Amino acid sequence: ASDVADDLVEVLFTEKQIQDRVAELAAEIERDYDGKDLVLVGVLRGAVMIMADLARALGKHVEMDWMAVSSYGSGTKSSGVVRILKDLDADITGRHVLIVDEIIDTGLTLSWLTSNLGSRGPASVEIATLLRKPEALQMPVKARYVGWDIPNEFVVGYGLDYRERYRNLRDIGTLSPSVYS
Ligand code: PRP
Ligand code: MG
Repeated sequence: ASDVADDLVEVLFTEKQIQDRVAELAAEIERDYDGKDLVLVGVLRGAVMIMADLARALGKHVEMDWMAVSSYGSGTKSSGVVRILKDLDADITGRHVLIVDEIIDTGLTLSWLTSNLGSRGPASVEIATLLRKPEALQMPVKARYVGWDIPNEFVVGYGLDYRERYRNLRDIGTLSPSVYS
């Protein structure tokens, strides 16, 4: 058998827990942006699931746009350099922007993205992330909406991949060591 859920050694957050937490974050966002024009910016590709669920949990009108960014080099974050693979379609000048991602790890991606989008003259730029690893943080990132802080463990599911697999897992969990070997 090779079901996507077979390789998990532990489930950290079930689909139900994730949906409940996303609904709570959505309620906070609705309250904070009441009467305001809001653009959600999803960070491809990991944020696809949280973006889809968060946007649908919101009762207000939002625009959904996407960016794809990548670290230079061999896919590691070590260089500290980020480049844009796909830019926004929207002009965010004077608009409220909420960056949506599923995890803050070192913080490089969202630290860079916050400053990049901030330079385009938006009314505001904030971050919503489902997960954050405080012990892994290397760059200053202020996330306004955080689902959960987690230990510095490798997690997959709900958009999070290991070698491009497990993104379509409904839960979030840790992988069996046998997968790595
Ligand atoms: C992952 C994840 C976050 C980022 C977090 O994306 O989806 O966007 O890394 O790590 P950081 O805080 O250390 O920057 P990745 O760049 O691996 O691409 P993906 O979204 O396509 O998986
Ligand atoms: Mg990502």
